Amino acid sequence: MPNVQFQLNGAAAAVDADPDQALLDVLRSQLGVTSPHFGCGAGECGACHVMVDGHAMSSCDMPMWSVAGKDVVTVEGLGTAEQPHPLQRAFITEQAMQCGYCVSGILISAAALLQRNPSPTEADVRAALDRNLCRCGSHNRMVRAVLRAAAEMAAS
Ligand code: FES
Repeated sequence: MPNVQFQLNGAAAAVDADPDQALLDVLRSQLGVTSPHFGCGAGECGACHVMVDGHAMSSCDMPMWSVAGKDVVTVEGLGTAEQPHPLQRAFITEQAMQCGYCVSGILISAAALLQRNPSPTEADVRAALDRNLCRCGSHNRMVRAVLRAAAEMAAS
């Protein structure tokens, strides 16, 4: 199997993988990166979102051949338990989750938004999270959390 090399959470990664294997499968089964979740498997729900070269993208339908040389960031690369990302703190403060299954993908979509637009409006946040489904209905709290994190990051 070909060796695919890319950046994963700021470090060099190399993995032997079928070129058509999905990045989500490789992250979870070969690299121990379990924050992206399998939801629909069809690029429709956002549970598997990862950041690729700064853009939130579904990893369930992203073949490994397309990942070579790219910069991939997952929630594991955003923050740690000791030093959480402002988004992670804000999601806790706003209690912006229920079952939590979708939250990793939503954090990635929000992080990509704040990278390209540090001062988003509520409409910007809603548009950025539009591709992420939350079956528990926590969207309004999530929008508040993203706006809280943006304000905190702007003030620091
Ligand atoms: Fe990838 Fe739903 S599992 S978008």
